[in-house]
Amino acid sequence: MNKRILRGGTLVMPQGCKKGDVLIENGKIAAIGDAVAADGAEVIDVSGLHVFPGLIDMHVHLREPGFEYKEDIASGSAAAVRGGFTQICCMPNTDPVCDNAAVVGYIVSRAKEVGLCKVRPIGAITAGEEGQQLAEIGKMQKAGAVAISDDGKPVMNSRVMRLAMEYASDFNMLCLSHCEDKNLVDGGVVNEGYNSTLAGLKGISRAAEEIMVARDIILAETLGTRIHICHVSTKGAVQLIREAKARGVRVTAETCPHYFTLTDDAVVSFDANTKVNPPLREAEDVAAIKQGLKDGTLDCIVTDHAPHHADEKNVEYNLAAFGISGIETSFALSYTNLVKSGILTLSRLAEKMSGAPARILGLSGGELKEGGVADITVADLSKEYTIDSKDFLSKGKNTPFTGTKVFGKIQYTIVDGQVKFSDVIK
Ligand code: DOR
Ligand code: ZN
Ligand code: ZN
Repeated sequence: MNKRILRGGTLVMPQGCKKGDVLIENGKIAAIGDAVAADGAEVIDVSGLHVFPGLIDMHVHLREPGFEYKEDIASGSAAAVRGGFTQICCMPNTDPVCDNAAVVGYIVSRAKEVGLCKVRPIGAITAGEEGQQLAEIGKMQKAGAVAISDDGKPVMNSRVMRLAMEYASDFNMLCLSHCEDKNLVDGGVVNEGYNSTLAGLKGISRAAEEIMVARDIILAETLGTRIHICHVSTKGAVQLIREAKARGVRVTAETCPHYFTLTDDAVVSFDANTKVNPPLREAEDVAAIKQGLKDGTLDCIVTDHAPHHADEKNVEYNLAAFGISGIETSFALSYTNLVKSGILTLSRLAEKMSGAPARILGLSGGELKEGGVADITVADLSKEYTIDSKDFLSKGKNTPFTGTKVFGKIQYTIVDGQVKFSDVIK
């Protein structure tokens, strides 16, 4: 049946929450309102639950092709819909690197075969993510790439970055910048500060991130192009972006749940699941990230879902891979730490996790509206549970959040009107 009705939920709309029904017909939202006639539709009772626009994660790593032992498009998509995501954008640091139309096309067609969430590939900025030669941006766009990024690596050469931003703007493609000055990082593994000294681990200065944020803002300002800053982790980066926005620079930015929930106190445990790039910072950074989300400096919440094999984490801290498997914990961590604590309203959480990513990348969805695509996420906000990586559908069990109590469980993930995930124990 191609007709269903979500009955009696609380709808999370841009202006606020309201009670109502959502009628879904042929993959579209046919009607929103009170007591919408069922008219032969399958009825899904969502009373007591909250109905969000389908969550969109514009920064994930799916690892296919090449690193399927960490994750593949099937396992990553299953984890995504369990996390409430109807649409995800995957970074190009695969093997081969997604720097050409053939790899983009492969990801698009494999994701369709899997048929869970929508998967939008991000093409590389440079061939092989080597930072030298621009990739074939136009051809990748034609094949389905929605943005470009050398994520995992910075584009160190400012001239190359300038060319990329100019060239991308001709295609109306956005550059997503992984801001890291490699020379300053110099083999560091955690934030540089008290805890790096205590643990005897080499530190990464905040300046390594902030210098590149400043550079990219200056380039965007000079060229009049857009730029998007990935995974903001420092107070200084938030301030640079805030000031740039105030001047009218066309900059947007994202952060991740681990940057507003954890400090580098976590790394003195030597648990390699706390190793992530950029690294966990300090309390004043966490406060600045929350403030940046609140005042609109930080547009969206992404996961930077970076699954790794246990063997790549079960080694000494210095040798472990950077990254957190985050797609199944993002919604609950965000709801618990931002909404329950009064920093964001539910509408603004929906904006950070759906509306803004859709607008920034020009994707479908992002809002519950009549005539819009029926990409919908239904959550039970009253349900408290304890995160356990053993429950993850992702192959990557690398999370520092096992044992953390959170509120907000995804109940249904609906993509183009079809239920792709449900977790209903009534
Ligand atoms: O922690 C990270 N993991 N940061 C990155 O920039 C890359 C990512 C990965 O691909 O594992
Ligand atoms: Zn990155
Ligand atoms: Zn990333």
